[in-house]
Amino acid sequence: MKFFVDTADVDEIRELNEMGLLDGVTTNPSLIMKAGRDIMEVTKEICAIVDGPVSAEVTATDYDGMMSQAAVLAGIANNICIKLPLTMDGLKACKALTSDGHKTNVTLCFSANQALLAAKAGATFISPFIGRIDDMAVDGMELIAEIRKIYDNYGFTTEILAASIRSVNHVKDAALIGADVATVPPATLKALVKHPLTDKGLDAFLADWAKTGQEIG
Ligand code: E4P
Repeated sequence: MKFFVDTADVDEIRELNEMGLLDGVTTNPSLIMKAGRDIMEVTKEICAIVDGPVSAEVTATDYDGMMSQAAVLAGIANNICIKLPLTMDGLKACKALTSDGHKTNVTLCFSANQALLAAKAGATFISPFIGRIDDMAVDGMELIAEIRKIYDNYGFTTEILAASIRSVNHVKDAALIGADVATVPPATLKALVKHPLTDKGLDAFLADWAKTGQEIG
């Protein structure tokens, strides 16, 4: 499973990238707002830090507007992935951009049929929003399972990018189902390493080691 980090905070991205954990980055207009930075400037900086795809989202809602914004965003760096909303115009733009050789991420996916359409439009990634579905008291993970089954039935190569992840269990369950990618907030990505028995075990080993009086090297 590939790990993308879901943020536009360059300090967090740099830290996680240095750990060798990052395969890409996803941003959206809300994350750009949270970062408080100019979209062009911050996205360029992110693209220089991470080798993998960096999703940058269009804000136009009509096909022509999406295509002209996509051209601007694609000019930022070679690893830009154009993020488009799952609408008629978004799918049309996805088809055109994919045919032109761009990477595309179709976002705001809340149903298996929407994911089927995105795959038919040639999307590089489909982003089903697990957490926001859970918020409606419906199991978001079920959607990941449905999309996995449909894509496998027909051999679609669109990668399932589990998005709107809120917990470490979301990451584990998406991996068990076979999502290709998880885009994870920085804090959740760091929480994946934590286990109280690891800390307890390490403390015990270090205490016993001190009693031996030995040093390595
Ligand atoms: C990423 O591509 C999505 O925009 C993001 O995961 C949405 O997460 P949220 O539902 O926590 O805003």
